[in-house]
Parts: sequence; C-alpha cells; structure tokens
Amino acid sequence: MKKIVAIIATIMLSSGVMAQGQNNGGNSSFPLNNFDHSVTQPAPGGDVSDGGPQAVSNITSVSGVPLVRLNNGVAMPRFGLGTQVQSMESPGQRQQLNETVRGMVISALQSGYRHLDDAIFYYNERGTGWGIKESGIPREQIWLTSKISGNLADAQNAFEGMLRRLQVDYIDLVYIHHPAGTLQDILACWRVMEREYKAGRIRALGISNFDNRMEAFNYIMQNAEIKPQIAQIECHPLAQRIEARQLYANNYDMQVECWYPLNHNSGDVNNATLQRIANAHNKSVYQVILRWHMQEGLCPVPGSTNVAHIRENINIFDFALSDAEMAAIRAINRGNAGRSFNLAYGNWTFGNFQDYTYNHTFTPTPTAIEGVRSNVDGQDDKIYSLDSKQLTAMQKGLNIVRSGNGATKKVLVK
Ligand SMILES: NC(=O)c1ccc[n+]([C@@H]2O[C@H](COP(=O)([O-])OP(=O)(O)OC[C@H]3O[C@@H](n4cnc5c(N)ncnc54)[C@H](OP(=O)(O)O)[C@@H]3O)[C@@H](O)[C@H]2O)c1
Repeated sequence: MKKIVAIIATIMLSSGVMAQGQNNGGNSSFPLNNFDHSVTQPAPGGDVSDGGPQAVSNITSVSGVPLVRLNNGVAMPRFGLGTQVQSMESPGQRQQLNETVRGMVISALQSGYRHLDDAIFYYNERGTGWGIKESGIPREQIWLTSKISGNLADAQNAFEGMLRRLQVDYIDLVYIHHPAGTLQDILACWRVMEREYKAGRIRALGISNFDNRMEAFNYIMQNAEIKPQIAQIECHPLAQRIEARQLYANNYDMQVECWYPLNHNSGDVNNATLQRIANAHNKSVYQVILRWHMQEGLCPVPGSTNVAHIRENINIFDFALSDAEMAAIRAINRGNAGRSFNLAYGNWTFGNFQDYTYNHTFTPTPTAIEGVRSNVDGQDDKIYSLDSKQLTAMQKGLNIVRSGNGATKKVLVK
C-alpha cells in the first residue's frame, strides 16, 4: 500500500499536479476576468498535459516540467533556460558568446528543457539557433522566446532579423523587451507583433519590464487588440514582486515569467532559511529557489553556462516544499529593496542593435571527434573515442557540449 501511495505521489510530482495544487499563485486559481479569450480559442487556465492549438507546434510536458495554458489557449512549458550571458556581451566577444550559448542550448534541450528565453539584445540568437538545430530535438517541440528592443518603430525589421538569426519560421513568444521610447513607438511595435501573431508567425505576445513604466502598460492595455499573454519581471525569493504579480495574474490573467530567478547568483546561497530547507530535502539552494517559483505558479528561466548546473536546475520535480517551507521563503522577501534593477524607463531608446557574425564551423556528421569526456553522476572523467554514428546515438540521451573550432572537435559529455 505504502508503495502504491509513493508511486502515485511520484506521478503527481512529475506531472506538476501536486505543485499546482499547493500553490497560491497558479493561473487556475485566478479569476479570468478582463480578458478576451476568443483571440485564438477559449481554454481553461492552469497546468495542462497536452500541446497548444496551433498545428505546427508540438509542446508536451518533458522531465516533469508542467505546461501552463495561457490566456489565448496556447500551452507553454512553465520552466526554461535563460540564454543571456552578460559576462560575454562586449562587442569583441560575439564568437565566444554564441559558441557558449550554442553549447548551453544543446545541453539544456538534451536535459529535458523545452523552453528557451532569448532576446535580440543578448547578441546570441545565432548560437541559440544552431544549438536548436544540433540538439536533435525537433523545433516544434521547443518553446522559443525572443524580445524586441532598441528602435521599436523598426519592429518589423527587428522581427525578420530575429527569425533569420534563430533560423526558424515562427517564434512562440515575442516580448517588447523594455518599455522605453515614445508610447506611439511602443504601440507601433505591438501592432507589428499583433500582425505577426495573426499571420501565425508568433504564438504568444509578452511585455517585459512594463512594471517599471505604468503609463506604457496602461497604454498597451487600452489600445491593444490582442492583449499580452505573459509579463516578464525580475522575481526571486528576495524580491517576490507581490504587487506586480497580482496586477498581471489577478487582474489581467497573464502568466508571470521571472528573470534573475536565482537573483543572478548574488548572495541567496548564504541565506539561512534557504540553506535549512535545502538541507532538509538534500537539494541545493538553487533547486529550492526554483521549486519555490514552480509552487508559486511562476515561470522561472534560470541561466547557466555550466552543464552540471543546467542539469541540477531542472531536477526539481521529484520533491515538494511544504506549506511551512513556502511560508518561510515568502517571509524572506525584501520587496523592492531586494531587486537588482529598478530602471525608470522613459521617452528614450534603449540602444540600437548592431548585427554581428558568428562563424559556425560544426558539421552535422563530424568525422574528427577526438574524444569524449564523461562525468556522469560525479564519477571520474573518462575518455571515449566515438565515431559520428555513436555520437548521434548519444546526442539523443545525453548532454553534449562542444568546445573548440576547426578540424578537431573536443566533445564533453555530461
Ligand atoms: N527581461 C529582462 O529584462 C531580463 C533581464 C535579465 C535577465 N533576463 C532573462 O533571465 C535569465 C536568467 O538571468 P541570469 O542568468 O542573468 O540570472 P540567474 O538565472 O538568476 O542566475 C544565473 C547565475 O547563477 C549561476 N547558477 C545557475 N545555476 C546554478 C547552480 N545550480 N549552482 C550554482 N550556480 C548556478 C550561474 O552561474 P553558472 O553559469 O556558473 O552556472 C549564473 O551566474 C537570462 O538568461 C535572461 O534570459 C531577462
């Protein structure tokens, strides 16, 4: 009997059922007022197990990540990889940045991630695009996000460039990255997004950082024909953003997505409450933080350049935080004082995008794989020699990060 209960609990956890039942912030518990659900098709809120309405997409729940049905009926994996690597964003580092992001994306997709958070402004869409191609995961099984920024009046060109760099013919979610510029330019950008949504080249529309400029938020809500499905804000245990979450989720039925979910790794690991809870579950503080997001009904997009961390961060669907633990984490909120950025956006442009090149040298059927290091489950590194056929087989089940260009490929398998 005990065994049957344990099995049922495991199934509930891996499907996200228990998490949703425990949270106070999941869409399913919010009233669906103030929103026109007829834009694509009506659908209930909350986590679901099937894909979205558009035939081209085939989003399913993988690795225990729950799907959320957005206010337009489209289903999205409610956990993803943040692809921004701020430490490599100087103009001279585009090659290194894109090579790194390509590896991150391959590792994440092969670890069960199906949601990637990108932006024009991260200068890494080319690496993300190649990573998707080489991951072995079909495009239609991936939720791909990017964001428009800079000259919002030129949004059509920005969107075409986004598709070109990512090498895709549709994007699942497009955000306006920052509410900077005139209200007219912000709305002009939204109109482009609406047109592309209707044309089937965008599946959901989002606003990012609009919590920092309410006049822009109100202007969009008053004038948009298609209202936003998602709002992205900074949100983590030290800055829990209660008011912004209530505004978006309660009043407008939007999913809240969290940037800096790990507070950009600045200090939370030393927090005694988080450490105590992590010890109790034999999990890391990072896993506890991300589990907190899941149980709050939020969508975190943690970033990492480290394969072990990428795997660790998604390994959060085999445990649950108790009500007391959730309450303890809610109590460490520092409100606005806990935020990393609190920009006052205004009538100014957020910098112009300068296109870049990325010299991608990988060949889909490599012939010069010189070795593979394996470090699975903390064991010592091992060297393997693989031919291209073996490599293809391994790509289906394991994480691979390639490093180095040219004739010889060094392949690191985790
Ligand atoms: N809309 C916006 O304006 C906006 C702004 C900022 C960010 N974002 C989005 O949010 C995403 C996440 O932000 P972020 O990556 O800067 O911050 P983050 O996810 O809060 O934290 C990332 C940092 O945590 C470390 N880390 C991750 N997992 C770890 C683990 N298991 N153990 C130890 N260290 C770990 C990473 O180091 P390692 O690389 O060593 O793992 C990195 O330094 C971005 O990638 C981007 O997509 C959006």
